[in-house]
Amino acid sequence: MNVCVVGTGYVGLVTGVCFADLGNEVICVDKDASKVEMLNNNIMPIYEPGLEEMVRRNREENRISFTTDLATAVKNSLVVFIAVGTPPKDTGETDLCYIEEVAKEIAGHMEKYTIIVNKSTVPVGTGDFVRKTVEHHRRRTIDFDVVSNPEFLKEGSAIADSLNPERIVIGAPNNHVAMALLELYAPLEVPMLITDVESAEMIKYASNAFLATKISFINTIANICERAGADVTAVAKGMGYDSRIGKEFLQAGLGFGGSCFPKDTLSLRHVTREFGEDTAIFDAVIATNEDRVPRFVRRIRQEMGDELKGKTIGILGLAFKANTDDMREAKSVEIIAALQEAGASVKAYDPVSMDVARTMLTGVTFARTAYEAAEGADAVIVVTDWNEFKLLNLEKLGEGMKERVMFDGRNIYHPEKARKFGFRYYSIGR
Ligand code: UGA
Repeated sequence: MNVCVVGTGYVGLVTGVCFADLGNEVICVDKDASKVEMLNNNIMPIYEPGLEEMVRRNREENRISFTTDLATAVKNSLVVFIAVGTPPKDTGETDLCYIEEVAKEIAGHMEKYTIIVNKSTVPVGTGDFVRKTVEHHRRRTIDFDVVSNPEFLKEGSAIADSLNPERIVIGAPNNHVAMALLELYAPLEVPMLITDVESAEMIKYASNAFLATKISFINTIANICERAGADVTAVAKGMGYDSRIGKEFLQAGLGFGGSCFPKDTLSLRHVTREFGEDTAIFDAVIATNEDRVPRFVRRIRQEMGDELKGKTIGILGLAFKANTDDMREAKSVEIIAALQEAGASVKAYDPVSMDVARTMLTGVTFARTAYEAAEGADAVIVVTDWNEFKLLNLEKLGEGMKERVMFDGRNIYHPEKARKFGFRYYSIGR
């Protein structure tokens, strides 16, 4: 099938290359010429395991190309995916300006029946908005359909998630267009659900908000565990055996970050409010999450005698989670700002996000290894649960430190192990 994907961010780029890998002819469009040039030189604008190799292979076999020329791409494609950014406004409302811009352009370039598929995460009602925008801006009465096909991939495992999704959701206005999308996804042989457009849009928001709720829930349980002398990791494990609850997303820590959950929960709350419905559950999820870092920093101050001025703190991990270089809504940014505000010096290390970090953080000394970040430090803080941190030689780490103090924001060590190496060790909910 001839497919066009507009937007080469995480979702667009991964979607495009996976469709190419399944044998389709894919044109990826981005208005950012420098990004297109990078991709045409096999340089990936994001870090994602397996992505570069897959792009290279499919480019060599002429199944994928990158361009800024939306007009030609639309003319040559039956299915056009919209995968552009949907940033939040100050109110939490999703800004649909890029979606609108692309919809207008597609409308202006369509020459035959086109299936326009919304893959960006958008509030319910956006499909209808895109349909009206295209209707208004198309040149002649060329037929088209607008479909909602939300994406559920996770950064860090984006390719695997796209090729082996747990479900495909297709929100289609009629059977004919639903069948065309089914055909595109058929080679994956995974469960597919066909719904109306609005329900598909809601499935995406409800899924992300539910996962965010699990995280805020377990973090609240962690707070109680800290008071009561219980261990939240044991509690989560015991809960997780119940298949109605499930083991996933019960990892207590510094809360959810990244480009999706914080933004999507705010957007869903905004939509709920707009409909005049009760937002209490989302209010609690958001408030709990927003208190994770302030609470953690209060703990650090308390344990370090409330005086951080003149202290050096080593930060292990800057990315918002492991296996990505993405630092959007990363807890490291918030923690480092609070430490600097309190007069501490910060030395930081991350296995892959150092280049991104340099553009976002000021006054931070960047170390080449975790051991270097700990060198001369009064304490280290684990912010991201990278695997390489789980296997650190704690004796070596402690040797270089002024004091063996560790605040583990992701519970990557067993308390006994850290204590065995002489660390004053503080973790979450234990
Ligand atoms: C999330 C969803 O998991 C994807 O299904 C969805 O497609 C994507 O958003 C999106 O809407 O595009 P992602 O943001 O890549 O994916 O990251 P997650 O792995 O879900 O983690 C989100 C945040 O929650 C991270 O900060 C992570 O550290 C935190 N988290 C996750 C916890 O604190 N505890 C957990 O148990 C799990």
